[in-house]
Amino acid sequence: MTCQLEIQSERPASQLTYHHLCSVIPAGVNSPVRACSGLDHLPLIVESAEKDLIMDVDGNAYIDFCGSWGALIHGHAHPKILSAVQKRLEKGSTFGVTSAIEGQLASKVIQLVDSVEKIRFVSSGTEATMSAVRLARGYTGRDYIVKFNGHYHGHADFFLVQAGSSVSGLSPTSSSAGIPAEIVKHIISIPFNDPESFIKVFRDPALKGRIAAVILEPVAGNLGVVPAEPGFLELVRQETSAADTLLIFDEVITGFRVGLKGAQGLYGIKPDLTCFGKIIGGGFPAAAFGGKKEIMDFLAPTGPVFQAGTLSGNPIAMEAGLQALMLLEQKDFYQTLAEKTQCIVNPIREFIAENNIPACIQQVGSMFTLFFGRRSIRNHAEAQTLDLPRFARFFRYMFSQGIYIPPSQHETWFVSGAHKNEHLMKTRDVILAFLKNELRF
Ligand SMILES: Cc1ncc(COP(=O)(O)O)c(C=O)c1O
Repeated sequence: MTCQLEIQSERPASQLTYHHLCSVIPAGVNSPVRACSGLDHLPLIVESAEKDLIMDVDGNAYIDFCGSWGALIHGHAHPKILSAVQKRLEKGSTFGVTSAIEGQLASKVIQLVDSVEKIRFVSSGTEATMSAVRLARGYTGRDYIVKFNGHYHGHADFFLVQAGSSVSGLSPTSSSAGIPAEIVKHIISIPFNDPESFIKVFRDPALKGRIAAVILEPVAGNLGVVPAEPGFLELVRQETSAADTLLIFDEVITGFRVGLKGAQGLYGIKPDLTCFGKIIGGGFPAAAFGGKKEIMDFLAPTGPVFQAGTLSGNPIAMEAGLQALMLLEQKDFYQTLAEKTQCIVNPIREFIAENNIPACIQQVGSMFTLFFGRRSIRNHAEAQTLDLPRFARFFRYMFSQGIYIPPSQHETWFVSGAHKNEHLMKTRDVILAFLKNELRF
């Protein structure tokens, strides 16, 4: 498959399909960000995808940097994952009863991620974080949860306070209607990368012995890429340990993305519980949460914390996840992925610096975001001051050139093992052309 250079501007079949979708599904989408709100752009309506390309219903092909929001680290329709899944499907698609493949994927995660001694599978990242918080509360017997502004942990009611991702575009407080105040009264949301705010909350005498857990994205991906600053995660680990508060790493994005051991391996911090999603399902709906045995055994039926799921541990998703993780173990996988990412990131970063452009590119491994309007982003407050009209123009330009990026300034671009060098070079050149010709810095 080659990439068409000129994308049809009208996209008639996409228009027709989207019109129908809007008549039967709110805004035509099953997750808000897909509607391209604020971009003045007809959403991408997908027909199929292969490797690093995604095809629309009009027959246009786009180089894909969304990668199903990071799930597809091996690109679309990887042959090894596909054939294993096809074989597995012949044995049945769901049992609602335990099967050996669940143990195989569990063992693989436990082998790779040191902090995980036991794990339980669920079907989405939202379920993983929601269950991890319930477990933390049940285990500690405490109610309060500390989170960070702009971090996104799925859409459980109590997380939608100052949340990132597409919640950011919803209201000035990044919250949702439909959530009673009582539900969020035990959630404390504070600025990321701000040691003073963190210490203030953590050492508040009124909260002593009452905080069950701190949950965070160790590399925030739902503000766009915003890494923790040196020393910040260490501080959080020290304070939580000292207070017998659990530390939950939400590695739904970073798990198996920034390295085989996730962000905890990269930064050398051991959380008490970890949430996984995206890559762990190999492109199918699976997610998980895991950690110390002693804590995990608090789950029903061994313990008093209830948690369940009809499709949890679905054999197709388990097979796909297992294949995906085994592919990650290939020699130099992450090294090659980082080199692919650098093909785009380095020249853009240099161009921005040389021309003193009010923009920046922030990257960890194969995740990155090009931000417009600031020279760095450390937290949610700074992310609120970005140049969104410029991003909208950029998105439309990229799309017109056959490149699909996440349709929001507050999201992460993902490079996969399937990205071809010629497509990476093309992407670099298109971004440079935008910066040179359209921004006229
Ligand atoms: C860090 C993080 N946690 C949790 C979630 C929720 O996962 P899901 O969309 O599978 O419910 C997401 C989704 O993007 C995420 O990025």
